[in-house]
Amino acid sequence: MSHLPRRDFLRVGAFGLAGGVLSLRAGAEPTPESGGLGDYGDYLKEPAAGGAPPGGDWSPTERNILGPFHREGAPFRGKVSPPLARGTVMLISGRVWGHDTRKPLARAVLDVWQASHAGRYDNDDPKAPPAKDVFLYRSRLVADDSGYYEYETIHPGRYEIGKGVWRPSHIHYLVRAPGYRTLVTQLYFKGDPENARDAFIRPSLIIDLQAVKADGGEYEKGAFDIVLSPE
Ligand SMILES: [Fe+2]
Repeated sequence: MSHLPRRDFLRVGAFGLAGGVLSLRAGAEPTPESGGLGDYGDYLKEPAAGGAPPGGDWSPTERNILGPFHREGAPFRGKVSPPLARGTVMLISGRVWGHDTRKPLARAVLDVWQASHAGRYDNDDPKAPPAKDVFLYRSRLVADDSGYYEYETIHPGRYEIGKGVWRPSHIHYLVRAPGYRTLVTQLYFKGDPENARDAFIRPSLIIDLQAVKADGGEYEKGAFDIVLSPE
């Protein structure tokens, strides 16, 4: 405070001198307690390290089509949808495992991409391609020491691929880890009406979403573990 002129110091402080008596400034609020960040339930509880994929299923994760919309070079970020994107917020987490070792694959790199709430990819209009360094609804993630990854996004929209033919909501994955076969797959969600009609979906890639109330709102939470085959 020594760099402030004395009169400024008196003005910026929470206390004022009224009639020569030190008193709390009118309207000053009590210092808030730490904590009280809102009701996020078990948000911070990561699944225990080690363990096994849900259901103890060690089968290598089924492959699925790459589709035409993948782009290399998406930024490393834990939020896939852009700020304030329309749609139901979703939190997806899981672990990447080695099929041979039954151990988590630390530093596996997951590349995820998806459609917006309106069912659009950032590169689905050849007449208006995105700038080279602009990536919407795309991220890369690095799994931690326990193979864990997590990202926030919005529930992807369905999109039409032919007259009256719609793809169900899905998120594309491309997962790489040294010594393992690169996995190209897609994640689907139980309850989507198009699941029953889609030509590409595989039942093993459908997860259940749980509705979670948090801080006055609601989001969807799902777990998707990945088991990679060795090369
Ligand atoms: Fe797609």
